[in-house]
Amino acid sequence: MSRKVDHPVTEEQVRTALKRVKFPGLSRDIVSFGFVKSISVGVRNDITVTLQVTTRDPAVPAQIQRDVKAVLVALDGVGSVNVNLMATQQSSQPSPAAAAGGLPQPVRIAGVKYIIAIGSGKGGVGKSTIAVNLACALSRLGHAVGLMDADVYGPSVPKMLGAVERPNMANNKLEPVEKFGLKLMSMALLMDADAAVIWRGPMIAKVIQEFSHAVNWGKLDVLLVDLPPGTGDAQISLAQTLVIDGGIIVTTPQDVALEVARRGITMLEKVNVKILGIIENMSYYVCPHCGQRDDVFGHGGAKREAERLEVPFLGELPLNTEIRAAGDRGEPIVVAAPDSEAARAFRKCAEAVWTQLEKH
Ligand SMILES: Nc1ncnc2c1ncn2[C@@H]1O[C@H](COP(=O)(O)OP(=O)(O)OP(=O)(O)O)[C@@H](O)[C@H]1O
Ligand SMILES: [Mg+2]
Repeated sequence: MSRKVDHPVTEEQVRTALKRVKFPGLSRDIVSFGFVKSISVGVRNDITVTLQVTTRDPAVPAQIQRDVKAVLVALDGVGSVNVNLMATQQSSQPSPAAAAGGLPQPVRIAGVKYIIAIGSGKGGVGKSTIAVNLACALSRLGHAVGLMDADVYGPSVPKMLGAVERPNMANNKLEPVEKFGLKLMSMALLMDADAAVIWRGPMIAKVIQEFSHAVNWGKLDVLLVDLPPGTGDAQISLAQTLVIDGGIIVTTPQDVALEVARRGITMLEKVNVKILGIIENMSYYVCPHCGQRDDVFGHGGAKREAERLEVPFLGELPLNTEIRAAGDRGEPIVVAAPDSEAARAFRKCAEAVWTQLEKH
């Protein structure tokens, strides 16, 4: 005959304790990730929790299981602790278990062949510049290209493309704005320029879901996603919403930038995104007057780093006033001066990106 305990542990206490368990290496907890499928507490405070963890890193499930056990056995008056953990790899189809449990599982966008995320650990390294120029270069290679600006904090893609039109609604879906043959969606097209919004995690997730599912992207060979800097909510939300075929990490050649690039890579891998490769931006400077080349930040660091991390090196881009000026004018250099050395460098990167995509 089982005896009731004096201080029953509640399901809420268990959930609160589980919120202290972070996804290894990230600041977000396993509850907010939606990994907790069920919690039950028996009459003798015997706790059983069932978790479903999506990851490609084989070390992650074991680590989570250990951390969960540790926080639960520490609960006051607890009986036995039983942690059932199911680990799933990211896939294009939701697993039957996930579908039954209603877990967020990344999906593909019908009609879109590849989705690429462009990220960096550090801000201001040229992600958006590279996203728009790569998009234009891929388009010139004959591909149907879309560009999703997932930087809700500082959406800069429309300005770099000179896009100001408001997206239309048709059949309950948002129509992307077309510019230089690209299909574009950005918060900057939907909000007033001076609108101040304080973004919270769930809102960012919502924007990314809307941009993924409520936009009529049509038929695309590739959709590029420009991410905000860092390893926060936008990155996690994107990886939970869409199956990403590859991540591109942008870095500058300095050691500090490379250090954050490494963090960016680790983060993308943790959320199941395969790394397509690294691009080194502001790699070198060619004097427009004498033609002499200067390695301003010490060029080549990203290539060495890529070799060390065994990820492809996708190319290097010069530090060039025209790249910035063209972006400020709203006409990317690949379009404005297709014969320039900078445009050629972008095209070479685009070819390398496509080669890697087809390999994957
Ligand atoms: N290769 C380059 N040569 C000259 N200027 C560049 C180059 N790449 C980027 N820039 C300039 O540097 C600034 C920052 O670039 P960009 O906005 O693309 O970076 P970002 O990584 O997207 O920044 P954020 O982290 O804020 O999103 C812009 O003014 C851009 O024009
Ligand atoms: Mg940017």
